[in-house]
Amino acid sequence: MTESLTIRRPDDWHLHLRDGLMLAGVLPETARHFARAIVMPNLVPPVVTGAEAAAYRGRIMAALPEGMHFQPLMTLYLTEETDPDDVAAAHRSGLVHAVKLYPAGATTNSASGVRDIDKLHPVLEKMAEIGLPLCIHGEVTTPEVDIFDREAVFIDTVLHPLRDRIPGLKVTLEHITTAEGVDYVAGAAGDIAGTITTHHLMIDRNHLLVGGLKPHYYCLPVAKRRSHRDALRRAATSGNPRFFLGTDSAPHNDDAKESACGCAGCFTATNTLACLAHVFEEEGALDKLEGFTSLHGPARYGLSPNDDTITLVRHDSPVSTPDKIATGAGPVTVFDPGHPLFWRVT
Ligand code: NCD
Ligand code: ZN
Repeated sequence: MTESLTIRRPDDWHLHLRDGLMLAGVLPETARHFARAIVMPNLVPPVVTGAEAAAYRGRIMAALPEGMHFQPLMTLYLTEETDPDDVAAAHRSGLVHAVKLYPAGATTNSASGVRDIDKLHPVLEKMAEIGLPLCIHGEVTTPEVDIFDREAVFIDTVLHPLRDRIPGLKVTLEHITTAEGVDYVAGAAGDIAGTITTHHLMIDRNHLLVGGLKPHYYCLPVAKRRSHRDALRRAATSGNPRFFLGTDSAPHNDDAKESACGCAGCFTATNTLACLAHVFEEEGALDKLEGFTSLHGPARYGLSPNDDTITLVRHDSPVSTPDKIATGAGPVTVFDPGHPLFWRVT
């Protein structure tokens, strides 16, 4: 018997589309299944102003193949020089849906990120006033803090005090990877949500390190031990609207990943929905998939869920997914869940 599941068309609330040839190569992989995505602004140079976001949006729409539909939801890259009035105008015009805070040095292309959070108060106050969400890469970059502890330390030493000082700020803690992240998002007072990636629901740090270094499992925040992955699974399948999908699909070409200093990022756009159906089925929670992929995110961002639907079909034998996609910027390896997948979007 073929099992099938029809859900509202999903959106991706954290996506890296890049620019130029890479953009052209990866955009169809997302647009095939997703209606909208919060597009990360960490280009080189970053997307800082409303004018830059408008131009980037134009390049994304120009790269969209004929006949495909996709709506990029633009973000601005927060710097210590960001102009609150420019942010407010970009939000008012309907262009910008969130502002992204990268601690300087935390991840790919974050060199222009924030060093002194106190300098952000005027812009954060303005965002609280106009209801514009702040998406946070929640890791400290202090060299003494172990990389596996950086999220938990960030929550205690940066996030909690910041939200105390600006209680009206809508915060999305991005790509949470720890039980501490889950507990904070689920339990904190005020307007907080958390995105969870596809890969962090599937892998733990053993996938990255046991039996040889696997650069395609290296992303930031780095995958933690299995008990944290399981906490993320409980959060994603709980039905709690504070948790929703942000794939953090982050393409780098294979040369950049398979290197003595490999880039951080897992490319999951191609098989995300097959992976998620697998995880939710394993957790006995297929009925919670639609909330996670298609309902909680729009509610959080003040948008309606998509009108149309997608259908996932469970096959009796494994379905094949490409190992790599070809782009004009070189081949990009697709996330390997490490086991067969049986679900496919029809
Ligand atoms: C992202 C990238 O490559 O832009 N990498 C990653 O490992 N997730 C940046 C980010 O979201 O941290
Ligand atoms: Zn990201």
